[in-house]
Parts: sequence; C-alpha cells; structure tokens
Amino acid sequence: MKLLKLSIACASVLASSLATASDVDIGALYRGAFRIDQANVSSMSRDEVRLAGMRMFTNPFLKEEGYGDGNHALPSRTPGNHEGERGTLQNNGTFQRINGLDAQTCLECHSIISRRKVPMTFGIGGVGGVNNTVLGAGGATFVDLTTADKEHNIDGRVINPPFIFGAGGVEQVANEMTIELNALLHATAPGTTKALSAKGITFGSVTRNADGSIQTDANGNAVGVVGVFDPRPIVSGAANTDFLTVAPFGRKGNQKSTRTFDIGALSFHFGMQVDPGDPDGDGVSNEVTQGELSVLSIFVGTAQVPFQTEVKGAAVQGFKVMNEVGCTACHVPSMETKSKNHGFRFPEVGNDPLANVFYTVDLTKSPMNFEKNKQGGVTVPLFADLKRHFMGPSLAEFNGDAMFTTMRLWGVADTAPYLHDGRALTIRDAIRLHGADATSEANPAVSAFLARSAADQDAVLAFLDTLRSPDGTFPELLGDLAKKVAHQQGVAH
Ligand code: HEC
Ligand code: HEC
Repeated sequence: MKLLKLSIACASVLASSLATASDVDIGALYRGAFRIDQANVSSMSRDEVRLAGMRMFTNPFLKEEGYGDGNHALPSRTPGNHEGERGTLQNNGTFQRINGLDAQTCLECHSIISRRKVPMTFGIGGVGGVNNTVLGAGGATFVDLTTADKEHNIDGRVINPPFIFGAGGVEQVANEMTIELNALLHATAPGTTKALSAKGITFGSVTRNADGSIQTDANGNAVGVVGVFDPRPIVSGAANTDFLTVAPFGRKGNQKSTRTFDIGALSFHFGMQVDPGDPDGDGVSNEVTQGELSVLSIFVGTAQVPFQTEVKGAAVQGFKVMNEVGCTACHVPSMETKSKNHGFRFPEVGNDPLANVFYTVDLTKSPMNFEKNKQGGVTVPLFADLKRHFMGPSLAEFNGDAMFTTMRLWGVADTAPYLHDGRALTIRDAIRLHGADATSEANPAVSAFLARSAADQDAVLAFLDTLRSPDGTFPELLGDLAKKVAHQQGVAH
C-alpha cells in the first residue's frame, strides 16, 4: 500500500509500521553525518552492515561524491593506472567504456538472476549479459577493428560479469587452503622439496635451497609451484605476502578477497577511490572510506548462495559421466571448511588470512544457509577447485595469457553467456570451447565428453540444469530494517 508522503515525525512512525519496503529510498541512507568509518562497523548489527553494503552496491554514484576522474579531457589514461586522467567520450565526464567509467552502480552489471523466462528475472548480485561485458582491466587504451590480427584488436581484456553469490563460502575455502599451503611451506626443511596440496587440490611443489631460501627460476617464480596467481616468494627485495595465496575471485583467480576485488571495481568502473586523499584529481577527497568498503565487502561476502534442484532422471547419469570423463577433477562438486565462521579483515595480509579480522559472520546463518559439516565447518557446493589452469591459445587474452580459475558451476543453469569473455552462448559451447585446444588442461576431459553418446552428453546438460541461482532479493534488509534506519537517520520516506 502507498501512504501519502508526509514528512512530519509522527507520519514517519506510522509509515514505518504500514508502508511498503519500496517507500524507503535506501540510496538516501548512510550519508552525511551517517557515513561509515571503519571504527563504526563492528558496532553495527550484521543486517545494518549488510543494508549499508547494499546501498553501496545499488545506489548510483554521483560526481559530487567523486564519480569519474579529474582531467577527463585527456584522451586516455596511463595503462594500469586506475587513478585520474581517464578521458571520457564527448568529454562529458561520465562515459568511456574502454577502460572503465562504464556504469554508475555495481548493480548495473550484477543484476541478471535468470534468463529462462521473459522478461528476465532481475535481482541484486546476479550476472551481466553481453552488454555488460567489460573492456579493459589491464590497461585497454584502444579497440582497433581494422588490424589484420583480429584476436589482438584490443590491448586489454574482455570480461563478462559473473555473479557474487556464495562469495563468503568461497572466500572461506580459499583462506583455509592458503593456510594449509603456507603451513607446508613453513614445514619445508632447507635442501628439501615438498609437495603442495590443500583440501585435496594439488599445487605442485616447493623447494628450499640449502640456505633456506625458496628456489626460484629466472623470472623469480618459485620452481614447481602451479595454480596460484602469484608464485613469486620475493617482490622488490621483500617477502611477498601474496605468495602461495589462493585467490578465488576474478576470472583469472587473481583476487584474494571480495575486499581486494571491490577496491579495484570502485575505482575502475566509477572512478571512486578508497583513499582519504584525491588521487584521481577530481576535486573530491574521501570518496569511499575504509568503513564503506568494509560494509560493501561484507554485503558481497554474505550474499545468497546458489542451490540445486533435485537430481533425478537423466541428471543422475549426467553426474556419473562428469566423474568418469574427468570434469570433476577441476569442477570439484563441493569443498569442506573447518570453520563455519568467516572473518573479514583489514588490512589484509594475503598469506595470513587470520590476521586483522574485524568482523566475523556465521556462514550457516540466513541468507547464506551453508550446510554444516561434521568438522564444525560448512559444505560449499561450488563445483570448482579454486585453482588456475591453462586453457590453450584459443581462449587466451590479448597478452597471450590463457590462465583462468576453474569457473564455479553452481548456478550455471542461469548464468549465460559463458566463459571469461562470454563467447559461449550455450553451456554446450562452453564445454566444447574450453577443451578445444590440444594443450588446454581441460582437453582430455572435454574430448572424452565429446566421445560419449548423445544421450550421455545430454545427461551432463541435464545435470548442469539442476544448478540454479538464488533469487537476489533481500526482504530482510528492505523491509522493517530499512524503515528503522531511515527513521533514525531522519530520512523522509
Ligand atoms: C561494468 C560492469 C561491472 C560493474 C559496474 C561492476 N562489476 Fe563486478 N564484475 C564485472 C566483471 C566483468 C567481473 C569479472 C572480472 C574479472 O574476471 O577480472 C566482475 C567480478 C566481480 C566480482 C568477483 C566475482 C567472482 O566470482 O570472481 C565481485 C566480488 C564483483 N564483481 C563485485 C562488484 C562490485 C562490488 C561492484 C561495484 C563496486 C562491481 N562489481 C561493479 C563487471 C562489473
Ligand atoms: C583442467 C580443468 C578443467 C576441466 C577438466 C574441465 N573444466 Fe570446465 N572450466 C575450467 C575453467 C578454467 C573454466 C573457465 C574458462 C574461462 O573462464 O574462459 C571452465 C568453464 C566451464 C564452463 C563455463 C562456466 C561459466 O559459467 O562460464 C562449463 C559449463 C564447464 N567448464 C563445464 C565443464 C565440463 C562439463 C567438463 C567436463 C567435460 C569440464 N568443464 C572440464 C576448467 C576445467
């Protein structure tokens, strides 16, 4: 029901008990005197934190808040520099597309829950369609369709948005794997080699020289280490705290946490910096506080979790086939955590996920509802190994890099288009394309899949069809809680 918009106090009390959720403009919350500092976060209730995070995720950023970069008349920015001097089309300060400034909210790209019905089902945290595919992240400064070499007609990356669902459970699995790998590293005696594995996933081996240092090749990469994004024990003369860190986020598996990811997303897509100064020179400082980044990361890290419908009929055979041909060596059906609590940390230390935890959430609680396991942790049914694999030259990006983290298949029935750049419009194409090259690590499994009968192949698709996205609605935040906070903050609704 819709109430008249009276701004006097008694009306808002009345409204708080009667009005519908949509009467609260959550974009008006947590502003001005109510902006969030890092020190506030631990005193907010979990759902208040999530509501504030949802505001960050869904509300359009404006120029007065720091949207865009300074100096936007320049034609381009320095490759790799997320701060300042990013030219915009028509010099209007809002839109560049080839290297960010490509949206006003996170939601614009993370909003499709399912395209199985007309119209599509939308919600908060879903995937992006082809039109949300990002050009950049790696220094894109040109797109040139006239080059003879059609695969190299952009000097950056082309990446399709995945969903954020289940992120907290994924991050907890990765953190525990990082702890295991680092324990093995510490237990490696000088002059010996130790096999590296975590939660049953192998990451090659590490060797210590007689003097205790880690054996490296000419590029500074640890000899024998595979599947992690940063294999360098030393960077610029200092111990690299990202060495042997399992990074589950980003299509390349190069982002260790939702927090790390979100810092880049805010800056890249919107020109919003997590820095008290004004690094992009747009005249606005303090664009995003560490506290605002925290609530955003906790919102992402407590997102709903994909679910599975009943596996019956052909789907039963499909799962059997996936095991037999070797899909599940990479697309590991589920991982177990030791802890049901996931800690968010600041500042983050890559190889020490227990350092500086300021906020903990119970992954078995709503809306995550991860299933408890016998060891006191949770089961994360992600269908992945959180490891990077070589996918062959035909999947390689402009710079020739064909390393991608195993895409988690939970929710896959709803998340077309597929593969890192959305080139596969159907699941069948996705399977075929990522094993097409003889050198792709997925080639043996995909070849074995293609050698199976049509009925077996269809059965695999029937199994994958049971893996569904959650609904992306947050009634627990948008109802009474939003009204209460709006009332406290004096926001009329
Ligand atoms: C213009 C589209 C776009 C916008 C806007 C956008 N994203 Fe994304 N998002 C992407 C793409 C593309 C990826 C994959 C990036 C990669 O693989 O490196 C991604 C990946 C992610 C991931 C990692 C998911 C995973 O499983 O690997 C998170 C978390 C995320 N985005 C959060 C955000 C947040 C928070 C915002 C707002 C601050 C945001 N995104 C805004 C396109 C977008
Ligand atoms: C060597 C590890 C490996 C094996 C084996 C493997 N995959 Fe994959 N799979 C990946 C990686 C890595 C990606 C992501 C590629 C990209 O981002 O372009 C992926 C992506 C996918 C996708 C697309 C998901 C999406 O949302 O984009 C599907 C579907 C898929 N795999 C199914 C299968 C099936 C079915 C098999 C067995 C026939 C299989 N995979 C075998 C590593 C593997």
